[in-house]
Amino acid sequence: MAEKDLFSQVNRPEDPDNMTDLEKKHLPVIDAPDKASAGETIQVSVEVGKLLAHPNEPAHHIEFIDLYEDEVYLTRADFTGGKVNPKVTFEVMLTKGGRLRAFCSCNLHGVWEGDKLIPIE
Ligand SMILES: [Fe+2]
Repeated sequence: MAEKDLFSQVNRPEDPDNMTDLEKKHLPVIDAPDKASAGETIQVSVEVGKLLAHPNEPAHHIEFIDLYEDEVYLTRADFTGGKVNPKVTFEVMLTKGGRLRAFCSCNLHGVWEGDKLIPIE
């Protein structure tokens, strides 16, 4: 099988129950409440390398973490590859309920997406 071109797509684990080391290193893991109320501000943490540490140095690092609610862009955190781990906590107010989607970009391995469903009560 030909090697996948990680830069020609948004990457996701092919089998979430049996992830490769590459997938574990790059999957943005979302930590947030399992549900929320309309108008409620919730804390949403996103960490890359939670399942398996990702390198964090100028030559190989996570460049940013973006957060979306479904198709709506919410916010971004940028990283330098310096002495800052690619983990961030946002305070967000969800409007529709749905899928929180976190995207991260590795300078060597492309863009990766992780998600979490958060119904609005
Ligand atoms: Fe990487």
